Amino acid sequence: MMMQDKQAWSGRFNEPVAELVKRYTASVEFDQRLALFDIQGSLAHAQMLEACGIITSQDLNDIRRGMAQIENEIISGDFVWSLDLEDVHLNIEKRLTALVGDAGKRLHTGRSRNDQVATDVRLYLRNAIDELIELVKALQMALVNLATHHTHTIMPGFTHLQVAQPVSFAHHLMAYFEMLKRDAERLADAHRRVNRLPLGAAALAGTSYPIKREMVAELLGFDGVCENSLDAVSDRDFAIEFTAAAALIMTHLSRLSEELILWMSPRFGFIDIADRFCTGSSIMPQKKNPDVPELVRGKTGRVNGHLVALLTLMKGQPLAYNKDNQEDKEPLFDTVDTLTQTLRIYADMIGGITVKPEAMRSAALQGYATATDLADYLVKKGLPFRDAHEAVALAVRFAEQRGCDLSGLKLEELQQFSSLIADDIYGVLTLEGSLAARNHTGGTAPQQVEAAIARARHYLAG
Ligand code: ARG
Repeated sequence: MMMQDKQAWSGRFNEPVAELVKRYTASVEFDQRLALFDIQGSLAHAQMLEACGIITSQDLNDIRRGMAQIENEIISGDFVWSLDLEDVHLNIEKRLTALVGDAGKRLHTGRSRNDQVATDVRLYLRNAIDELIELVKALQMALVNLATHHTHTIMPGFTHLQVAQPVSFAHHLMAYFEMLKRDAERLADAHRRVNRLPLGAAALAGTSYPIKREMVAELLGFDGVCENSLDAVSDRDFAIEFTAAAALIMTHLSRLSEELILWMSPRFGFIDIADRFCTGSSIMPQKKNPDVPELVRGKTGRVNGHLVALLTLMKGQPLAYNKDNQEDKEPLFDTVDTLTQTLRIYADMIGGITVKPEAMRSAALQGYATATDLADYLVKKGLPFRDAHEAVALAVRFAEQRGCDLSGLKLEELQQFSSLIADDIYGVLTLEGSLAARNHTGGTAPQQVEAAIARARHYLAG
Protein backbone atom coordinates (compact mmCIF):
# COMPACT_ATOMS: atom_id res chain seq x y z
CA MET A 1 0.00 0.00 0.00
CA MET A 2 1.30 3.49 -0.88
CA MET A 3 0.36 6.88 0.57
CA GLN A 4 1.20 10.61 0.22
CA ASP A 5 4.09 12.05 2.23
CA LYS A 6 6.33 15.13 2.22
CA GLN A 7 9.91 14.53 1.03
CA ALA A 8 12.61 14.63 3.70
CA TRP A 9 14.63 17.11 1.61
CA SER A 10 11.73 19.32 0.37
CA GLY A 11 12.73 22.38 2.45
CA ARG A 12 15.10 23.62 -0.26
CA PHE A 13 12.59 23.29 -3.11
CA ASN A 14 10.03 25.80 -4.45
CA GLU A 15 7.68 23.32 -6.09
CA PRO A 16 6.87 19.68 -5.51
CA VAL A 17 8.57 17.16 -7.69
CA ALA A 18 6.57 16.21 -10.79
CA GLU A 19 4.54 13.03 -10.44
CA LEU A 20 6.37 11.36 -13.32
CA VAL A 21 9.74 12.31 -11.87
CA LYS A 22 8.73 10.96 -8.51
CA ARG A 23 7.95 7.60 -10.05
CA TYR A 24 11.11 7.72 -12.12
CA THR A 25 13.43 8.45 -9.23
CA ALA A 26 11.81 6.37 -6.48
CA SER A 27 13.32 3.02 -5.63
CA VAL A 28 11.04 1.91 -2.80
CA GLU A 29 9.21 -0.59 -4.97
CA PHE A 30 12.35 -2.66 -5.31
CA ASP A 31 14.66 -1.60 -2.48
CA GLN A 32 12.12 -2.47 0.23
CA ARG A 33 13.66 -5.90 0.11
CA LEU A 34 16.63 -4.34 1.94
CA ALA A 35 14.38 -3.29 4.86
CA LEU A 36 15.59 -5.73 7.51
CA PHE A 37 19.22 -5.06 6.64
CA ASP A 38 18.50 -1.33 6.79
CA ILE A 39 17.16 -1.75 10.32
CA GLN A 40 20.10 -3.90 11.33
CA GLY A 41 22.52 -1.20 10.09
CA SER A 42 20.55 1.57 11.80
CA LEU A 43 20.56 -0.22 15.14
CA ALA A 44 24.33 -0.66 15.05
CA HIS A 45 24.78 2.99 14.02
CA ALA A 46 22.51 4.15 16.88
CA GLN A 47 24.35 2.01 19.41
CA MET A 48 27.62 3.58 18.33
CA LEU A 49 26.13 7.12 18.48
CA GLU A 50 25.08 6.44 22.05
CA ALA A 51 28.42 4.93 23.01
CA CYS A 52 30.15 8.04 21.62
CA GLY A 53 27.83 10.36 23.54
CA ILE A 54 26.23 11.73 20.36
CA ILE A 55 22.71 10.60 21.33
CA THR A 56 21.37 9.74 24.80
CA SER A 57 20.60 6.26 26.05
CA GLN A 58 16.95 7.31 26.15
CA ASP A 59 17.20 8.04 22.40
CA LEU A 60 18.78 4.65 21.81
CA ASN A 61 16.03 2.90 23.75
CA ASP A 62 13.37 4.76 21.78
CA ILE A 63 15.05 3.86 18.50
CA ARG A 64 15.26 0.21 19.50
CA ARG A 65 11.64 0.10 20.56
CA GLY A 66 10.49 1.80 17.37
CA MET A 67 12.61 -0.41 15.13
CA ALA A 68 11.31 -3.56 16.82
CA GLN A 69 7.77 -2.52 15.98
CA ILE A 70 8.71 -1.56 12.42
CA GLU A 71 10.37 -4.91 11.93
CA ASN A 72 7.17 -6.65 13.03
CA GLU A 73 5.11 -4.51 10.70
CA ILE A 74 7.36 -5.33 7.76
CA ILE A 75 7.43 -9.06 8.47
CA SER A 76 3.67 -9.22 8.90
CA GLY A 77 3.10 -7.15 5.76
CA ASP A 78 1.36 -4.32 7.64
CA PHE A 79 4.01 -1.70 6.94
CA VAL A 80 2.70 1.06 4.67
CA TRP A 81 5.25 1.95 1.98
CA SER A 82 5.07 5.42 0.49
CA LEU A 83 6.31 6.32 -2.97
CA ASP A 84 6.62 9.94 -1.85
CA LEU A 85 9.23 8.81 0.63
CA GLU A 86 11.32 7.60 -2.27
CA ASP A 87 13.23 4.69 -0.87
CA VAL A 88 13.43 2.11 1.87
CA HIS A 89 15.64 4.32 4.05
CA LEU A 90 13.34 7.33 4.20
CA ASN A 91 10.26 5.15 4.60
CA ILE A 92 11.68 3.49 7.69
CA GLU A 93 13.07 6.71 9.16
CA LYS A 94 9.73 8.47 8.75
CA ARG A 95 7.86 5.64 10.41
CA LEU A 96 10.38 5.58 13.25
CA THR A 97 9.85 9.29 13.86
CA ALA A 98 6.09 8.80 13.82
CA LEU A 99 6.48 6.09 16.45
CA VAL A 100 9.12 7.56 18.78
CA GLY A 101 9.41 11.27 17.95
CA ASP A 102 12.72 13.16 18.17
CA ALA A 103 14.89 10.09 18.74
CA GLY A 104 13.85 8.98 15.24
CA LYS A 105 14.99 12.31 13.85
CA ARG A 106 18.36 11.93 15.55
CA LEU A 107 19.12 8.53 14.00
CA HIS A 108 20.50 10.05 10.82
CA THR A 109 23.18 12.03 12.70
CA GLY A 110 26.62 11.41 11.20
CA ARG A 111 25.17 9.32 8.40
CA SER A 112 23.94 9.78 4.84
CA ARG A 113 21.79 7.60 2.64
CA ASN A 114 24.92 7.21 0.54
CA ASP A 115 26.83 5.22 3.12
CA GLN A 116 23.59 3.72 4.42
CA VAL A 117 22.57 2.17 1.10
CA ALA A 118 26.08 0.88 0.42
CA THR A 119 25.97 -0.81 3.83
CA ASP A 120 22.52 -2.31 3.23
CA VAL A 121 23.53 -3.78 -0.12
CA ARG A 122 26.65 -5.30 1.42
CA LEU A 123 24.67 -6.82 4.30
CA TYR A 124 22.15 -8.22 1.82
CA LEU A 125 24.77 -9.60 -0.54
CA ARG A 126 26.89 -11.13 2.20
CA ASN A 127 23.88 -13.09 3.32
CA ALA A 128 22.93 -14.09 -0.23
CA ILE A 129 26.46 -15.32 -0.93
CA ASP A 130 26.42 -17.54 2.17
CA GLU A 131 23.17 -19.13 1.03
CA LEU A 132 24.38 -19.54 -2.54
CA ILE A 133 27.55 -21.32 -1.45
CA GLU A 134 25.39 -23.86 0.38
CA LEU A 135 23.24 -24.33 -2.72
CA VAL A 136 26.31 -24.85 -4.91
CA LYS A 137 27.48 -27.51 -2.47
CA ALA A 138 24.09 -29.23 -2.52
CA LEU A 139 24.29 -29.44 -6.30
CA GLN A 140 27.83 -30.79 -6.06
CA MET A 141 26.52 -33.45 -3.69
CA ALA A 142 23.81 -34.43 -6.17
CA LEU A 143 26.46 -34.81 -8.89
CA VAL A 144 28.70 -36.88 -6.63
CA ASN A 145 25.78 -39.12 -5.65
CA LEU A 146 24.92 -39.78 -9.28
CA ALA A 147 28.58 -40.28 -10.20
CA THR A 148 29.03 -42.86 -7.43
CA HIS A 149 26.78 -45.28 -9.30
CA HIS A 150 28.44 -44.75 -12.66
CA THR A 151 32.20 -45.03 -12.34
CA HIS A 152 32.00 -48.11 -14.60
CA THR A 153 29.34 -46.74 -16.95
CA ILE A 154 31.07 -46.04 -20.24
CA MET A 155 30.05 -43.31 -22.65
CA PRO A 156 31.76 -41.77 -25.64
CA GLY A 157 33.78 -38.69 -24.72
CA PHE A 158 33.50 -36.05 -27.42
CA THR A 159 35.65 -33.36 -28.94
CA HIS A 160 34.03 -31.22 -31.63
CA LEU A 161 30.93 -33.25 -30.71
CA GLN A 162 32.55 -36.17 -32.58
CA VAL A 163 33.22 -39.42 -30.73
CA ALA A 164 36.75 -39.09 -29.38
CA GLN A 165 37.65 -41.55 -26.60
CA PRO A 166 35.58 -43.56 -24.16
CA VAL A 167 35.14 -42.05 -20.72
CA SER A 168 33.44 -43.02 -17.52
CA PHE A 169 30.07 -41.26 -17.15
CA ALA A 170 31.04 -40.50 -13.56
CA HIS A 171 34.21 -38.82 -14.82
CA HIS A 172 32.09 -36.61 -17.07
CA LEU A 173 29.83 -35.64 -14.16
CA MET A 174 32.82 -34.94 -11.94
CA ALA A 175 34.10 -32.39 -14.46
CA TYR A 176 31.12 -30.27 -13.40
CA PHE A 177 31.93 -30.90 -9.75
CA GLU A 178 35.32 -29.27 -10.39
CA MET A 179 33.78 -26.26 -12.11
CA LEU A 180 31.37 -25.77 -9.23
CA LYS A 181 34.18 -26.08 -6.74
CA ARG A 182 35.95 -23.14 -8.34
CA ASP A 183 32.61 -21.32 -8.44
CA ALA A 184 32.15 -21.75 -4.69
CA GLU A 185 35.71 -20.51 -4.16
CA ARG A 186 34.97 -17.42 -6.25
CA LEU A 187 31.87 -16.70 -4.18
CA ALA A 188 33.80 -17.10 -0.94
CA ASP A 189 36.51 -14.82 -2.26
CA ALA A 190 33.99 -12.16 -3.31
CA HIS A 191 32.51 -12.42 0.19
CA ARG A 192 35.79 -11.18 1.69
CA ARG A 193 35.60 -7.92 -0.24
CA VAL A 194 31.84 -7.50 0.27
CA ASN A 195 32.31 -7.77 4.01
CA ARG A 196 33.62 -4.23 4.68
CA LEU A 197 31.69 -1.41 6.31
CA PRO A 198 30.95 1.80 4.36
CA LEU A 199 29.07 3.53 7.25
CA GLY A 200 30.94 6.51 8.58
CA ALA A 201 31.77 7.72 5.09
CA ALA A 202 28.53 9.72 5.39
CA ALA A 203 27.74 11.58 2.16
CA LEU A 204 31.26 11.33 0.79
CA ALA A 205 33.87 12.99 3.00
CA GLY A 206 33.28 11.47 6.42
CA THR A 207 31.55 13.25 9.28
CA SER A 208 32.43 15.87 11.87
CA TYR A 209 30.96 13.82 14.77
CA PRO A 210 33.33 11.79 16.93
CA ILE A 211 32.15 8.42 15.58
CA LYS A 212 33.70 4.97 15.99
CA ARG A 213 33.45 3.16 12.68
CA GLU A 214 35.29 0.07 13.92
CA MET A 215 32.67 -0.43 16.59
CA VAL A 216 29.88 -0.45 13.99
CA ALA A 217 31.89 -2.84 11.83
CA GLU A 218 32.26 -5.21 14.73
CA LEU A 219 28.59 -5.00 15.72
CA LEU A 220 27.57 -5.88 12.17
CA GLY A 221 30.10 -8.67 11.75
CA PHE A 222 32.14 -6.90 9.06
CA ASP A 223 35.82 -7.80 8.76
CA GLY A 224 36.77 -4.12 8.75
CA VAL A 225 35.82 -0.70 7.41
CA CYS A 226 36.15 0.69 3.88
CA GLU A 227 39.26 2.80 4.24
CA ASN A 228 38.41 5.71 1.95
CA SER A 229 35.14 7.56 2.36
CA LEU A 230 34.82 8.50 -1.33
CA ASP A 231 35.40 4.93 -2.41
CA ALA A 232 33.08 3.58 0.30
CA VAL A 233 29.99 5.38 -0.97
CA SER A 234 30.60 5.16 -4.68
CA ASP A 235 32.07 1.88 -5.81
CA ARG A 236 29.94 -1.13 -6.56
CA ASP A 237 32.80 -3.35 -7.66
CA PHE A 238 31.83 -5.87 -4.99
CA ALA A 239 28.43 -6.29 -6.66
CA ILE A 240 30.00 -6.54 -10.10
CA GLU A 241 32.45 -9.15 -8.89
CA PHE A 242 29.68 -11.20 -7.37
CA THR A 243 27.62 -10.96 -10.54
CA ALA A 244 30.62 -12.10 -12.59
CA ALA A 245 30.94 -15.16 -10.33
CA ALA A 246 27.20 -15.75 -10.72
CA ALA A 247 27.43 -15.44 -14.51
CA LEU A 248 30.16 -18.08 -14.51
CA ILE A 249 28.05 -20.46 -12.44
CA MET A 250 25.16 -19.97 -14.84
CA THR A 251 27.53 -20.50 -17.75
CA HIS A 252 28.69 -23.80 -16.30
CA LEU A 253 25.12 -24.89 -15.73
CA SER A 254 24.22 -23.78 -19.23
CA ARG A 255 26.86 -26.11 -20.63
CA LEU A 256 25.59 -28.98 -18.54
CA SER A 257 22.06 -28.13 -19.65
CA GLU A 258 23.08 -28.28 -23.28
CA GLU A 259 24.48 -31.75 -22.64
CA LEU A 260 21.37 -32.93 -20.81
CA ILE A 261 19.25 -31.71 -23.71
CA LEU A 262 21.42 -33.55 -26.23
CA TRP A 263 21.57 -36.70 -24.13
CA MET A 264 17.80 -36.74 -23.72
CA SER A 265 17.22 -36.39 -27.45
CA PRO A 266 16.16 -39.80 -28.85
CA ARG A 267 19.17 -39.53 -31.20
CA PHE A 268 21.39 -39.98 -28.16
CA GLY A 269 19.02 -41.56 -25.68
CA PHE A 270 21.71 -41.53 -22.95
CA ILE A 271 19.46 -40.31 -20.16
CA ASP A 272 15.93 -39.55 -19.21
CA ILE A 273 14.95 -36.56 -17.11
CA ALA A 274 12.11 -37.13 -14.63
CA ASP A 275 8.71 -36.06 -15.96
CA ARG A 276 8.34 -33.40 -13.28
CA PHE A 277 11.10 -31.35 -14.94
CA CYS A 278 9.67 -31.62 -18.44
CA THR A 279 6.58 -30.49 -20.30
CA GLY A 280 4.62 -31.81 -23.25
CA SER A 281 3.58 -30.17 -26.47
CA SER A 282 0.07 -28.87 -27.06
CA ILE A 283 0.14 -30.19 -30.62
CA MET A 284 2.61 -33.11 -30.79
CA PRO A 285 1.45 -35.84 -28.43
CA GLN A 286 4.73 -37.77 -28.53
CA LYS A 287 6.83 -34.90 -27.15
CA LYS A 288 8.53 -34.63 -23.77
CA ASN A 289 10.57 -31.44 -23.70
CA PRO A 290 13.51 -30.73 -21.38
CA ASP A 291 12.15 -27.32 -20.40
CA VAL A 292 14.17 -26.89 -17.21
CA PRO A 293 17.62 -27.25 -18.81
CA GLU A 294 16.47 -25.13 -21.74
CA LEU A 295 15.38 -22.37 -19.36
CA VAL A 296 18.64 -22.57 -17.45
CA ARG A 297 20.45 -22.06 -20.75
CA GLY A 298 18.12 -19.14 -21.50
CA LYS A 299 18.41 -17.54 -18.06
CA THR A 300 22.19 -17.58 -18.39
CA GLY A 301 21.75 -14.86 -20.99
CA ARG A 302 19.80 -12.85 -18.48
CA VAL A 303 22.48 -13.07 -15.76
CA ASN A 304 25.25 -12.32 -18.25
CA GLY A 305 23.18 -9.28 -19.18
CA HIS A 306 23.05 -8.15 -15.55
CA LEU A 307 26.84 -8.29 -15.40
CA VAL A 308 27.12 -6.06 -18.44
CA ALA A 309 24.46 -3.75 -16.99
CA LEU A 310 26.44 -3.28 -13.76
CA LEU A 311 29.74 -2.74 -15.53
CA THR A 312 28.13 -0.18 -17.80
CA LEU A 313 26.42 1.50 -14.86
CA MET A 314 29.79 2.14 -13.24
CA LYS A 315 32.03 3.05 -16.12
CA GLY A 316 31.15 6.72 -16.59
CA GLN A 317 30.69 7.74 -12.97
CA PRO A 318 32.94 10.38 -11.42
CA LEU A 319 33.52 10.16 -7.67
CA ALA A 320 31.68 9.99 -5.42
CA TYR A 321 28.04 8.82 -5.11
CA ASN A 322 25.76 9.33 -8.11
CA LYS A 323 22.13 8.35 -8.42
CA ASP A 324 23.15 5.96 -11.20
CA ASN A 325 24.01 3.57 -8.39
CA GLN A 326 20.37 3.15 -7.52
CA GLU A 327 20.23 1.06 -10.72
CA ASP A 328 22.50 -1.55 -9.16
CA LYS A 329 19.69 -3.16 -7.22
CA GLU A 330 17.40 -4.74 -9.76
CA PRO A 331 20.18 -6.52 -11.69
CA LEU A 332 21.77 -7.64 -8.45
CA PHE A 333 18.52 -8.90 -6.90
CA ASP A 334 17.52 -10.66 -10.09
CA THR A 335 20.94 -12.28 -10.32
CA VAL A 336 20.58 -13.64 -6.78
CA ASP A 337 16.99 -14.80 -7.41
CA THR A 338 17.75 -16.44 -10.74
CA LEU A 339 20.83 -18.20 -9.44
CA THR A 340 19.08 -19.34 -6.26
CA GLN A 341 16.15 -20.86 -8.12
CA THR A 342 18.41 -22.40 -10.74
CA LEU A 343 20.68 -24.09 -8.21
CA ARG A 344 17.72 -25.41 -6.21
CA ILE A 345 15.97 -26.92 -9.18
CA TYR A 346 19.19 -28.28 -10.62
CA ALA A 347 20.15 -30.34 -7.59
CA ASP A 348 16.69 -31.91 -7.67
CA MET A 349 16.81 -32.53 -11.38
CA ILE A 350 20.20 -34.27 -11.21
CA GLY A 351 18.73 -36.53 -8.54
CA GLY A 352 15.90 -37.41 -10.94
CA ILE A 353 18.02 -38.50 -13.92
CA THR A 354 17.70 -42.03 -15.26
CA VAL A 355 20.89 -43.22 -16.93
CA LYS A 356 20.80 -45.61 -19.89
CA PRO A 357 24.20 -47.32 -19.87
CA GLU A 358 23.43 -49.55 -22.88
CA ALA A 359 22.77 -46.56 -25.15
CA MET A 360 25.98 -44.90 -23.95
CA ARG A 361 27.91 -48.06 -24.53
CA SER A 362 26.66 -48.67 -28.03
CA ALA A 363 27.40 -45.04 -28.95
CA ALA A 364 30.93 -45.48 -27.60
CA LEU A 365 31.34 -48.56 -29.79
CA GLN A 366 30.28 -46.70 -32.91
CA GLY A 367 32.89 -44.03 -33.42
CA TYR A 368 36.23 -45.90 -33.25
CA ALA A 369 36.71 -44.48 -29.81
CA THR A 370 39.63 -46.82 -29.06
CA ALA A 371 41.68 -45.83 -32.13
CA THR A 372 44.07 -43.84 -29.91
CA ASP A 373 44.53 -46.92 -27.75
CA LEU A 374 45.63 -48.93 -30.79
CA ALA A 375 48.11 -46.19 -31.71
CA ASP A 376 49.47 -46.08 -28.14
CA TYR A 377 49.81 -49.88 -28.23
CA LEU A 378 51.98 -49.68 -31.36
CA VAL A 379 54.09 -46.90 -29.86
CA LYS A 380 54.72 -49.00 -26.77
CA LYS A 381 55.96 -51.74 -29.12
CA GLY A 382 58.49 -49.34 -30.65
CA LEU A 383 56.71 -47.64 -33.58
CA PRO A 384 57.10 -43.84 -33.74
CA PHE A 385 53.78 -42.14 -32.89
CA ARG A 386 53.26 -40.57 -36.33
CA ASP A 387 53.68 -43.95 -38.04
CA ALA A 388 51.33 -45.54 -35.54
CA HIS A 389 48.77 -42.81 -36.22
CA GLU A 390 48.96 -43.54 -39.94
CA ALA A 391 48.63 -47.32 -39.49
CA VAL A 392 45.58 -46.89 -37.26
CA ALA A 393 43.95 -44.45 -39.67
CA LEU A 394 44.19 -47.13 -42.38
CA ALA A 395 42.81 -49.77 -40.01
CA VAL A 396 39.85 -47.48 -39.14
CA ARG A 397 39.15 -46.97 -42.81
CA PHE A 398 39.20 -50.74 -43.34
CA ALA A 399 36.87 -51.37 -40.39
CA GLU A 400 34.54 -48.67 -41.64
CA GLN A 401 34.23 -50.50 -44.96
CA ARG A 402 33.50 -53.70 -43.03
CA GLY A 403 30.94 -51.84 -40.97
CA CYS A 404 32.48 -52.98 -37.68
CA ASP A 405 34.48 -51.66 -34.75
CA LEU A 406 38.26 -52.13 -34.55
CA SER A 407 37.71 -54.84 -31.95
CA GLY A 408 35.51 -56.63 -34.54
CA LEU A 409 38.46 -57.20 -36.91
CA LYS A 410 40.28 -60.54 -36.94
CA LEU A 411 43.90 -60.66 -35.78
CA GLU A 412 45.16 -61.35 -39.34
CA GLU A 413 43.17 -58.39 -40.60
CA LEU A 414 44.67 -56.10 -37.99
CA GLN A 415 48.16 -57.41 -38.68
CA GLN A 416 47.95 -56.10 -42.29
CA PHE A 417 48.43 -52.66 -40.80
CA SER A 418 51.30 -53.54 -38.53
CA SER A 419 53.16 -56.73 -37.84
CA LEU A 420 53.63 -55.51 -34.26
CA ILE A 421 50.02 -56.35 -33.48
CA ALA A 422 49.59 -59.55 -31.44
CA ASP A 423 46.58 -61.17 -29.80
CA ASP A 424 47.02 -59.08 -26.63
CA ILE A 425 45.52 -56.27 -28.74
CA TYR A 426 41.95 -57.21 -27.84
CA GLY A 427 42.45 -56.21 -24.21
CA VAL A 428 43.47 -52.80 -25.49
CA LEU A 429 40.65 -52.30 -27.97
CA THR A 430 37.82 -52.88 -25.52
CA LEU A 431 36.13 -49.89 -23.93
CA GLU A 432 37.04 -51.20 -20.48
CA GLY A 433 40.70 -51.58 -21.48
CA SER A 434 40.75 -48.03 -22.81
CA LEU A 435 39.39 -46.60 -19.56
CA ALA A 436 41.57 -48.72 -17.30
CA ALA A 437 44.70 -47.58 -19.17
CA ARG A 438 44.18 -43.92 -18.19
CA ASN A 439 45.16 -44.59 -14.65
CA HIS A 440 46.65 -41.38 -13.28
CA THR A 441 45.32 -38.43 -11.29
CA GLY A 442 42.66 -36.74 -13.40
CA GLY A 443 42.31 -39.70 -15.77
CA THR A 444 39.12 -41.62 -16.53
CA ALA A 445 40.14 -45.05 -15.15
CA PRO A 446 37.31 -46.11 -12.79
CA GLN A 447 39.84 -46.45 -9.98
CA GLN A 448 40.87 -42.80 -10.45
CA VAL A 449 37.28 -41.62 -10.69
CA GLU A 450 36.50 -43.43 -7.44
CA ALA A 451 39.41 -41.61 -5.84
CA ALA A 452 38.13 -38.30 -7.22
CA ILE A 453 34.70 -39.03 -5.76
CA ALA A 454 36.24 -39.84 -2.39
CA ARG A 455 38.15 -36.53 -2.46
CA ALA A 456 34.94 -34.74 -3.41
CA ARG A 457 33.01 -36.27 -0.52
CA HIS A 458 35.77 -35.28 1.86
CA TYR A 459 35.69 -31.70 0.52
CA LEU A 460 31.90 -31.50 0.86
CA ALA A 461 31.99 -32.85 4.42
CA GLY A 462 34.64 -30.28 5.44
N1 ARG B 1 17.89 5.03 -3.20
C1 ARG B 1 19.25 5.44 -3.24
C2 ARG B 1 20.09 4.35 -3.87
O1 ARG B 1 19.59 3.30 -4.05
C3 ARG B 1 19.74 5.72 -1.85
C4 ARG B 1 20.83 6.72 -1.79
C5 ARG B 1 20.35 8.01 -2.32
N2 ARG B 1 21.15 9.10 -1.94
C6 ARG B 1 20.87 10.31 -2.38
N3 ARG B 1 21.55 11.26 -1.94
N4 ARG B 1 19.90 10.53 -3.23
O2 ARG B 1 21.22 4.53 -4.22
